[in-house]
Amino acid sequence: MQIINPHFIFMSDTITSNLAVAFKKTIRKIAPLEELIEDFPDAKITNLHENSLLMPGLINAHVHIEFSANKTQLSYGDFMNWLYSVIENREKLINDCKQECMNKAIDSMLASGITTFGAISSHGMDLNACVKAPQNVVFFNELIGSQATMADALFSDFLARLNASKAVQREGFYPAVAIHSPYSVHPILIKKAIEIVKNDNLKLTAHFMESQAERNWLDNSEGEFKNFFENLLKQKYAVSDSKEFLQYFNNSNVLLTHVVKANDEELELLAQNKHTVIHCPISNRLLGNGVLDLNRLDEKNIKWIVATDGLSSNYKLDLFEEMKIALFMQSNTPLLELANKLIRSVTIDAANALGINTGEIAEGKNADMLIIDLDKAPTNELALHLILHKYNISTIYINGKLIK
Ligand code: BEZ
Ligand code: FE2
Repeated sequence: MQIINPHFIFMSDTITSNLAVAFKKTIRKIAPLEELIEDFPDAKITNLHENSLLMPGLINAHVHIEFSANKTQLSYGDFMNWLYSVIENREKLINDCKQECMNKAIDSMLASGITTFGAISSHGMDLNACVKAPQNVVFFNELIGSQATMADALFSDFLARLNASKAVQREGFYPAVAIHSPYSVHPILIKKAIEIVKNDNLKLTAHFMESQAERNWLDNSEGEFKNFFENLLKQKYAVSDSKEFLQYFNNSNVLLTHVVKANDEELELLAQNKHTVIHCPISNRLLGNGVLDLNRLDEKNIKWIVATDGLSSNYKLDLFEEMKIALFMQSNTPLLELANKLIRSVTIDAANALGINTGEIAEGKNADMLIIDLDKAPTNELALHLILHKYNISTIYINGKLIK
């Protein structure tokens, strides 16, 4: 058992002082130091420095580790141009991102306080790096392919990757499933994947309504995807419309990434099924996809969290940066209220969406914790200042183990 005695603790929306935390893998008790010493006389005690703040580790629910080699290769500003540039550069980007490149991406997340991430794995090349990562990892094996003729081959490749990740036995590693998007996955594949998700009780995620091109293609089999599908995949029509796609996910809680172009009817379905939206504001801006209206989601009681997406559509994997951009993009939302929601979105809300027992400094939760060096005692505007100022993270615990 260990006891840490910080000056302040960020617990849900409140800041406490004069409380210490006893923990092993999980947080056992939060109480005044003297009480913890009485309860756990053999515990190792760490008294922390002045203005130290204990807060939960951050959770980045959507990142593409395999694409971490990109810096300037991919084209930004327009979704379809970006997609064509991905297709053109995919092999080189994947080949250029070996273990060291993936480790660098994972280490950079740790350095910015990310103690859990959701890796969208297109090829399984990132499995080893994710297994060895110090963080908790939800490893989303991605299924893609809109051509029925390719379905069997693609599904057996997906199954092999999923099974490899299911064979991993390490604390804090969770195999899971990603369905790439409504336009890129054939319903045959979706149905087969969902059966596995249900049988094995796995987490499921998908990209949904990211671009205007996706909107037009799913609604009318028209728009900028028309040439793409006709020329590259010999398809004249979308494989599903958006309602059909969402119906596959009825009665399960799915994480849907982007959702920028969703209409009211789709948002009602998201609310009814208690899905969670993953908001990646930097990716949306860089690919010319516009701004997700978080107020509209709040009005409809739709849960949302914030994530970075991959380095294929971002310049860093840093949730503090991501929250700052979200804060400035949602310029009509009351500032402090939004800052508090953003911090919740990358801690407790993300943990709940991923179904992991973390994201909060609370008894019984896994001890995934950051110690932040503030320069003054925090005020009730702490959430805002955490986002605005890049405070030093002096110490990181994951599952109770000292990582930094
Ligand atoms: C496909 O494999 O069918 C696909 C991939 C990317 C975008 C669209 C379709
Ligand atoms: Fe993504």
